[in-house]
Amino acid sequence: MATLIDGKKISTQIKDELKAKVEELQKQGTSVTLAVIQVGNDPASTVYVGNKKKACEYIGIKSLAYELPETTTQEELLDLVKKLNEDPEVNGILVQLPLPKHIDENLVIQTISPKKDVDGFHPQSVGALSIGQRGFVSCTPSGIIQLLKRSGIEIEGKECVIIGRSNIVGKPMALLMLRENATVTICHSRTKNLKEVAKRADILIVAIGKPRFINHEYVKEGAVVIDVGIHRDENNKLCGDVDFDDVLDKVTAITPVPGGVGPMTIAMLMNNCVESVL
Ligand code: GUN
Repeated sequence: MATLIDGKKISTQIKDELKAKVEELQKQGTSVTLAVIQVGNDPASTVYVGNKKKACEYIGIKSLAYELPETTTQEELLDLVKKLNEDPEVNGILVQLPLPKHIDENLVIQTISPKKDVDGFHPQSVGALSIGQRGFVSCTPSGIIQLLKRSGIEIEGKECVIIGRSNIVGKPMALLMLRENATVTICHSRTKNLKEVAKRADILIVAIGKPRFINHEYVKEGAVVIDVGIHRDENNKLCGDVDFDDVLDKVTAITPVPGGVGPMTIAMLMNNCVESVL
C-alpha cells in the first residue's frame, strides 16, 4: 500500500510551529511584517495573494498589501520596492509574479534587498544556495524537503531524478537534494530516453507542467513520487503532472494533487518571513 504524503497536514504542522514562534517573538517585542505587492489583477495571482494574506493572519504575521493597477510603470514599482527595502518595519517583500509585460521581472527581483527576499528569487539568494551559504531558499523546493523529512523518507545516498529545470523549482530542488547528499539528475525537454532516466529514481520529483504526463512507464517499483504540477483536466478536476491512479500500485509514497506540494509553498514562505527577523 502506497503512503499518501499529506501536504495539508504537514503544512498545518509547520504553520502551527511558526505561530508559536511568532507569539514568542511578540512577547520579546519583535513583530514580523510581510509586504505583498500585486500588479494588475490576474485571477490566479489574486487567489495566491489572498492565500498568502490568510496564512499571515493565521500565524500572526502582519501583511501589508499593495494592489497596484496594471498600468503601474516599472519606475513606480521599483520606487516602491526601494522604499520597502529601507523601511525598518518591513521584514519581507514579495512581488507576485507574473508581472505585466512592460515590466522587467528580473530587474524587479534584483532590486529587492536579499535580506528581505522571502521568495528566494534574488541572484544572491540563488548563489548562496549553490555554494552552501546562508540565504533564503525558494519555497516550493524547500517545502518538498520538509515533506520528505517529515514523512520519514531518507534522502541521503538516494538516486533523485528531477524532471524540470526552472529557476523556481527544478534548479533549486537539485541543489537542496545535493545538500541532503542525494545523487541528483536533472531532466528537461531535450533529455533523451526520459523513461529510462526517470526509472532510475528512488525519489522522482516532477515539475514539467504537463497534465498526467508521467505514467507507470516512468516509475521504478518502490519509488517515492513528488508531483509539483497543478492543472484542471477536461472535466475541470484538479490533477498533477503525474497520472496518480496509473502509478499508485508501483510507488511506496506519493503526493496527491491537490493537498501535496501546493500547501507547502505558502508554509515555507511563512517560514522565510519568520527567519527574516531572526
Ligand atoms: N507566482 C507563482 N508562484 C509564485 C511564487 O512562489 N512567488 C511569487 N512571487 N510569485 C509567484
